[in-house]
Amino acid sequence: MIIVQGYYPLKGEIEIQGSKNAALPMMAAALLHKGTTVLDHVPMIQDVFCMMGILESLGCVLCLKDHRLTVDASEVSSMQIPRDRGRAMRSSIVVLGALLGRRGEGEAYYPGGCSIGSRPIDLHLAAFQRMGVEIREENDMIRAEAGTLKGADITLSYPSVGATENVILAAVKAEGRTVLKGAAREPEIDALCGMLKAMGAKIRGVGSDCLVIDGVEELRDASYQVPGDRIVTGTYLFAVMAAGGEAVLKKGSPESLGCVLDTMRAMGANVRVEGDTVSIAMTGRPKAVSITTSPHPGFPTDLQSVAMAVMAVGEGQGYLKETVFEGRFATAKQLHKMGAEIIIEGSEARVTGKGFLKGARVRACDLRSGAALAVAGLRAEGDTMITDCCHIFRGYEDICGDLRNLGGRIRRES
Ligand code: UD1
Repeated sequence: MIIVQGYYPLKGEIEIQGSKNAALPMMAAALLHKGTTVLDHVPMIQDVFCMMGILESLGCVLCLKDHRLTVDASEVSSMQIPRDRGRAMRSSIVVLGALLGRRGEGEAYYPGGCSIGSRPIDLHLAAFQRMGVEIREENDMIRAEAGTLKGADITLSYPSVGATENVILAAVKAEGRTVLKGAAREPEIDALCGMLKAMGAKIRGVGSDCLVIDGVEELRDASYQVPGDRIVTGTYLFAVMAAGGEAVLKKGSPESLGCVLDTMRAMGANVRVEGDTVSIAMTGRPKAVSITTSPHPGFPTDLQSVAMAVMAVGEGQGYLKETVFEGRFATAKQLHKMGAEIIIEGSEARVTGKGFLKGARVRACDLRSGAALAVAGLRAEGDTMITDCCHIFRGYEDICGDLRNLGGRIRRES
C-alpha cells in the first residue's frame, strides 16, 4: 500500500528513470543478435524484470547492475515465450517479432498487461502474414512460422506502437526491403531504431510515419542508452501542478513532451526546458482545459489519468476525450471516492475542479491510474491509501522516493 499525506507543496530536483516503453522493445531487440548487447539507464521496474525472465527462458544470459543490462543472446534455445510471463505483460508480444527475426518462428500467448481496454493484436499478426509468416492460433496460443521471412509493403490502418515495433524487429534481418506506412511515431520507436542502427540495421525514415528497412544478414555487438521516461516526467510535472511548488527534473526527455508542456502552460504552470532538463513552477489552482488523447505527437493516453487528477483539484470545468484506450476512465471511479466531480459519457469526461480532495482508500486499477491517485493524494486533506500498487511498480522505479525527494509526504507500507 502507498500512503500519501496531502497538502505539502513540492520543491526539489530529481533525475528521471529510463523509459519503460523504450527499454522493453530494446531488450527484445537484443534477441536478434548472436552476441552481446548492452543497454544503459535501464529502469529497475517489474516489467523489465519480467522481460528479463522471458529472455532468460529463451536461452539468453543476462546481467543487470547499476542500471546497465548486458544481454548475451549467442544461444537462443527456445522459441516459446513462457505463458505466465507473456500474459503478465502486454509488451511480451514484441518478443514474437524478435523471435521471427532471429529464427523465423516463434510461439506466444495472447498478452496481458494493464486492463485499460480490449487491446487486440490483429495488426501485428496481419503485418507478419504480409512478411510470409503463417499464423496458427490454438486457444490463447499463437504459433508463427515463416520458411523465409520476407520484406514486404505493409500499411498499418492505425499507428499501433506495438505493431510498429514488431514489424521493425521482424524486418531488420528479413530478406529484402520492408516499407512500413502508417507507422507509429512515438519517441520510443525512434530509440528502438537508434539502437538497431547502432547494431548495424539499415532503417530509414526514423521519426516519420514511413519506415524503410533493408534486411541485413548479421548484426554486431553494440551498447545504447535508454532515453529518460517522458511519461514519468509528465507524471511528476503534473504532481507539482496538483501540490503547488516548483521542481527541476533532469534527463526526462522533455523534448518529446511538447504538446503536454503546452497543456501545462495553458493550465497555469510556468514550464521551462533547457536541454534535457525541465523545470516547473506552479502557484494557484490549475485552470481547466480540454484535452484529447491521440497518438504521438498528440497528448499521450498514458498521461490522461494524471491530467484528470490535476483537473479534479483545479478550477473550472474541463474536458477529457480518450481516443486510444476505451478502459482508461476507470481512474474516475477511484477519484470519486476522494470527492472528485467527474462525469463520464462514453469516451468523454467532464471534470469540475474542486480545489482539493479528501483522503480515502482507493485502488490502483492500472499502472497510470495508480500514479494519478498518488498525484491526487498530494492535494487531498488527510491520508490517501492506495491499494493494488503492484501496478505502479510495473512502470515507476521509486515513485515514493522521487516524490519524497521533492518534499512530498508519501511512503510505502506492506
Ligand atoms: C503502447 C504503450 C502504452 C501506450 C500505447 C499508446 C508500451 C509497452 N506500451 O501500448 O503505454 O499507452 O502504446 O501510446 O509501449 N490496436 C488494435 N490492434 C492491434 C494493436 C493495437 O486494435 O493489433 C489498438 C489498441 O486496442 C488501442 C490502440 O490500437 O486501442 C493503440 O494500441 P497500441 O499503439 O498498439 O498500444 P500498445 O503498443 O499496446
